[in-house]
Amino acid sequence: MIKVGIVGGTGYTGVELLRLFAAHPEVQLQAVTSRKEDGMPVAEMYPSLRGRVDIAFSSPDKAKLTDCDVVFFATPHGVAMAQAPELLAAGVKVIDLAADFRLQDVAAFEKWYKMPHSCPELLKEAAYGLVELNRENIRKARIVGNPGCYPTTMQLGFAPLLKAGAIDASHLIADCKSGVSGAGRKAEIATLFSEASDNFKAYGVSGHRHSPETVERLGTLTDDKIGLLFTPHLVPMIRGMHSTLYARLTKDIDNAALQALFEDAYKREPFIDVMPFGSHPETRTTRASNMLRIALHRPDNGDTVVVLVVQDNLVKGASGQAVQCMNLMFGLDETTGLMHVPVLP
Ligand SMILES: NC(=O)c1ccc[n+]([C@@H]2O[C@H](COP(=O)([O-])OP(=O)(O)OC[C@H]3O[C@@H](n4cnc5c(N)ncnc54)[C@H](OP(=O)(O)O)[C@@H]3O)[C@@H](O)[C@H]2O)c1
Repeated sequence: MIKVGIVGGTGYTGVELLRLFAAHPEVQLQAVTSRKEDGMPVAEMYPSLRGRVDIAFSSPDKAKLTDCDVVFFATPHGVAMAQAPELLAAGVKVIDLAADFRLQDVAAFEKWYKMPHSCPELLKEAAYGLVELNRENIRKARIVGNPGCYPTTMQLGFAPLLKAGAIDASHLIADCKSGVSGAGRKAEIATLFSEASDNFKAYGVSGHRHSPETVERLGTLTDDKIGLLFTPHLVPMIRGMHSTLYARLTKDIDNAALQALFEDAYKREPFIDVMPFGSHPETRTTRASNMLRIALHRPDNGDTVVVLVVQDNLVKGASGQAVQCMNLMFGLDETTGLMHVPVLP
């Protein structure tokens, strides 16, 4: 059994990890931390886990994280990099759901996250946790920087087109929408029911942290310079993410060949569903599952390809992706504990 620790078990990605581990046959929960709820049984805070998770939260200083095989950080940025050196020295693997180990460009990290990076030398060896595009590095890694939720959709949606040199990399557009759980389980006015429900708004239009991450990673797929316009929106649903991606075709390519690019790229991927050309994937067809669905369109048979991508922000966009990485890092079948059918309606 893999002994697992979770730092930040009271938040949304933390409880999602707990839900996934409750059904994972190779995992034994060793420690789940909370600074505020030391001693409270997890199932008391989350009755959905009654009878399935039999452990109490412990404060980070009491949790014996060095006894774990792997520790997940489901915490704000900056927490994982403070503890990673000690854990790695004790032979513990680290998977960070925040941004500490995502961006290789330290200056970009410090600019966007407004804090110095405390262990740039460890950052160099960290693997970016987007399995479908970085599987072999994750398999060998001691540290994984789990991708952001929006970047997951943007990279998987643009990747086959960029790799084939089929689009103008300098003018990519991503119009993305997220459910409110993307903001975490903290009290903020913008996510109150009466603010976020029955409402729809863009945010971060002039610049968002997920842009530099996406540009850096897409840049590894092509020699062309990446130009990305990314606009995130908050939509009044709890879970789910829908990204509409636009790119200008630079190759003479028909629709069947476009579709074949995606089907070939993802034919062996258990968590990516390339739907028939012209389909309209819905967020609810991925809810509570690790699936990400993609569909292609080409309005008026013109030179713009539109890629629709949906996922559950808390699963493929966060905790499910992190478990997929863990499975690889411990030599398990990548799908172990992750084959849930989405919940619909
Ligand atoms: N929500 C999403 O859809 C999503 C998707 C992809 C990535 N992420 C990333 O995943 C991370 C967690 O997100 P979330 O939505 O789960 O956040 P959240 O709901 O706000 O939960 C944060 C957790 O971190 C703990 N925590 C906060 N500060 C801490 C500190 N200094 N030391 C130790 N524990 C601390 C909190 O517990 P206590 O206060 O009880 O200690 C809480 O359990 C974030 O970095 C986020 O950007 C989130």
